[in-house]
Amino acid sequence: MTIEFAPLCDALGAEVRGLDLKRLDDADRARLAKALPENGVLLARGLDLTPEDHVTLTRVFGDPDIHPIEAIRLEGHPEVIVLAAGRFDQIREGDPGAEDLVGQISWHSDLTYTAFPSRGALLYARTIPPEGGQTGFIDLANVYDALPDGLKQRIEGLEVVHSLGPLQQAIHQAASTDYARDPATVPDFEPVVHPLVHRHPETGRRVLDISPAFAQSIVGLEEDESAELLRELREFATQRRFSYFHPWQVGDLIIWDNWRTMHVATGHKRRHRRVMHRTTLRGGVALSA
Ligand SMILES: [Fe+2]
Repeated sequence: MTIEFAPLCDALGAEVRGLDLKRLDDADRARLAKALPENGVLLARGLDLTPEDHVTLTRVFGDPDIHPIEAIRLEGHPEVIVLAAGRFDQIREGDPGAEDLVGQISWHSDLTYTAFPSRGALLYARTIPPEGGQTGFIDLANVYDALPDGLKQRIEGLEVVHSLGPLQQAIHQAASTDYARDPATVPDFEPVVHPLVHRHPETGRRVLDISPAFAQSIVGLEEDESAELLRELREFATQRRFSYFHPWQVGDLIIWDNWRTMHVATGHKRRHRRVMHRTTLRGGVALSA
C-alpha cells in the first residue's frame, strides 16, 4: 500500500499522497475507488500522466466514457477531452481583448443536460496560466444537510428541467473557434428532468442537485416562483463556507464525484495559455429521489 489520505480543506475533499501509477497495488485501487464517493473531491499533486496513463487511472474509479461533444475530444484518445479556452496563440499583451477573461463556466455538475449525468471526472493540469484559471468545488451532499428544515420541506419531491440552454450557443462557438474543428459535431441536446434532491446511488446520501448553469426551471411552478426558488437555493449553496477553489499547478489531478458535487471555472486572461485534460466516468443511471 503506497497511498495516504489527508483532508483537503475544512469544506470538503481529501488529498491523496503517494499516488504513483506504477506502484499502485490492488489495495490502493480499492481505497481510491471507495474514497471518491466518501470525500466527493480528491486531489493528487505532482503527477506526470500521458493520455494513456490518464485513462488507466480513470479505470480505477469506473468506466471511462466518451464525451458527447466530439469537438473537444483529444485526437487519438477519445476518452480524453481538451479544455483550452481562448486564442492565446494569436493574442499578445496590449492587443484588444488580451486582458479579457476566457474559460469562465458558472457553477454546474457535468452533463446534467443529459439523462444519465456522469459519475465523475478526472481533471489534469498540463499548462497553467500565471494567474487565475482556478476551479471551485462545492459538496452538494453537505449543502443538503445544512439546508434549513423549512427549505428541505419546500423542495421535497420537486423536479428540475435541465438543458444546455444559452451555453449551447457558446459551446458551438468554442468548438468552431478554439479547436478549429467541425462545429456540427456539437449535438443539440433535448431538455431532461432530474429530481431536485437525489439519493447518491452509492452512499445513499441526499444531494441538492441544482447544477445552476443547466437548471432552467422547476416543474409545475410559475416562472417567477421557479426562478426565485432556484436563486434562493443557488445563493445558499454557493456560500464561501461550502466551497474550495483550487490554485492549479502543472501535474495536479482533481477527481470529483459528479453525483455529489458541482464545480465552477473562474476563467483566465485571454493572452495566457491554460490546457487541461479531462476524462469522464460513465454514469449510466438516472438519478432518483
Ligand atoms: Fe464541468
